[in-house]
Amino acid sequence: MKLLSFLVSILGLLAVCKATTYEYNIKTFNVLLDHFTFADNATFPIRYLMNDSYVTDKRSPIMFYTGNEGDIELFAQNTGFVWKAGIQLKAMIVFAEHRYYGKSLPFGNESYKDPQHLGYLTSEQALADFADLLEHLNPDRLRPVICFGGSYGGMLSAWMRMKYPHLVVGALASSAPVRQFTDVVPCDIFNRILTSVFRVAIENSPCVDNIKKLWPVLKNFSSTEEGRKYLSNEFKFCKPYNKTEDYDTFYAYLMDVFGNLAMANYPYEANFLAPLPAFPVRQFCGQLDKNFDKNEELLTAFNNALQVYSNYTQKTKCLDISSAYDESMGSLGWDFQACTEMVMPMCTTGSTDMFVPKKWDFAEYSTDCFKKFKVYPRERAAICQYGAFKFDMLSNVIFSNGLLDPWSGGGVLRTQSDAVTVVILPEGAHHLDLREDNKADPASIKATRTYYLKTFREWVDTYNN
Ligand SMILES: *[C@@H]1O[C@H](CO)[C@@H](O)[C@H](O)[C@H]1NC(C)=O
Ligand SMILES: *[C@@H]1O[C@H](CO)[C@@H](O)[C@H](O)[C@H]1NC(C)=O
Ligand SMILES: *[C@@H]1O[C@H](CO)[C@@H](O)[C@H](O)[C@H]1NC(C)=O
Ligand SMILES: *[C@@H]1O[C@H](CO)[C@@H](O)[C@H](O)[C@H]1NC(C)=O
Ligand SMILES: *[C@@H]1O[C@H](CO)[C@@H](O)[C@H](O)[C@H]1NC(C)=O
Ligand SMILES: *[C@@H]1O[C@H](CO)[C@@H](O)[C@H](O)[C@H]1NC(C)=O
Repeated sequence: MKLLSFLVSILGLLAVCKATTYEYNIKTFNVLLDHFTFADNATFPIRYLMNDSYVTDKRSPIMFYTGNEGDIELFAQNTGFVWKAGIQLKAMIVFAEHRYYGKSLPFGNESYKDPQHLGYLTSEQALADFADLLEHLNPDRLRPVICFGGSYGGMLSAWMRMKYPHLVVGALASSAPVRQFTDVVPCDIFNRILTSVFRVAIENSPCVDNIKKLWPVLKNFSSTEEGRKYLSNEFKFCKPYNKTEDYDTFYAYLMDVFGNLAMANYPYEANFLAPLPAFPVRQFCGQLDKNFDKNEELLTAFNNALQVYSNYTQKTKCLDISSAYDESMGSLGWDFQACTEMVMPMCTTGSTDMFVPKKWDFAEYSTDCFKKFKVYPRERAAICQYGAFKFDMLSNVIFSNGLLDPWSGGGVLRTQSDAVTVVILPEGAHHLDLREDNKADPASIKATRTYYLKTFREWVDTYNN
């Protein structure tokens, strides 16, 4: 991939984001990049959000958010710490959108049409896009660049420092499951941690046992017409729930809901994966905090619990079980990435977790990927490309993980290198540290943010001297 030409067209103030403590005023740019990857040398826009009002001179740093699988405005709204760091370090603040997500669609509305169009959606290409953008924003490299990211965005931040150390002075990789790959961590680790989050939400609660009891009941009800009618009436599904196999869709949806509740288990009300109350897992389990004699009672209580996720606004007319994700998350794009190079083995045991046992079966996974996208995954692609066992060869990378985050199992939790920092946040959910300050934040988060700012200053000073 090579940069052929560069055109920047300013579209002006397309987006104005509001937040409680900072008045975000995000300029939206449209940037045209050329890539050799396109046979006809076509260009396409990569969107990025930039604020340079705090910059004082030509050596002021750049705080660069490496966008992940969704609309970049969603991440800008949920990553207030980058603003805080930007203001304190008098930096240029940039949120760069990942290709194929949000408005950065290489082939417009045909980007997802077929493998010929979708094939340019890879993490390597996304990193190369960010590198091109940094070359453009910082051509003489006077500005030290610090990358930030959460989740897959955190993986990209660490990998930016790994692959482009001449462009990036350091990275904060928050809740980045860079080790969640084949044979690196056990496949049940995600669901094991997830279950423990539900187990500890309320002391001595039967919540987890009730969830375990739910599955055979749901399956049983789904197997008869009468049962399906009952479920339809109880849960108010948007689409007809009239086949035995609809249970599989419901189960898959609920698995995602459980994962999202644990990830967004923040100590205050937020709207990241869905509008949710403070401590949503505790709220959820609060509805399942007793034993039920009848299946119907269990189902009603479970529906009340589910409302915490699906209907916190009280405005949900019907339950859409086709996806647990908001539209601004690009779950289809992520599924494609998971079907090519981001193969993250997942399984359930039924004993270490509260789900129905299911082995990890790569052959079956591959077949499903081919059915869905006409591609087969490369099982060890990410391991080959980035390594996954140890990250001690890096420098100036902070890996942070909240122990309440199911993804922490695939994170970097130890290091033998002085140049790599591991931060463990016992009370943290998914990249809580990247969010803006909130008075409900646990003390560990406040101390950690102070530590980050001190470290960033050191990186910047070292670079500038
Ligand atoms: C940057 O953000 C600040 C605070 O929200 C705002 O006052 C300023 O106008 C913004 N600058 C640009 C260039 O958008
Ligand atoms: C890009 O394609 C156009 C025609 O589609 C051609 O005229 C031009 O020379 C090409 N540019 C490069 C650098 O290959
Ligand atoms: C895709 O965009 C083109 C051009 O704007 C438009 O004519 C077409 O209807 C769109 N197709 C779909 C499926 O949205
Ligand atoms: C399954 O449903 C039948 C009838 O609806 C009921 O008698 C039976 O107890 C149910 N079994 C379980 C495990 O819920
Ligand atoms: C389920 O309902 C839909 C829409 O009413 C209908 O098209 C479909 O044939 C039904 N399926 C079964 C198995 O009854
Ligand atoms: C969402 O909550 C409102 C208000 O309580 C209720 O009327 C509606 O039925 C709920 N939606 C679903 C899908 O349960």
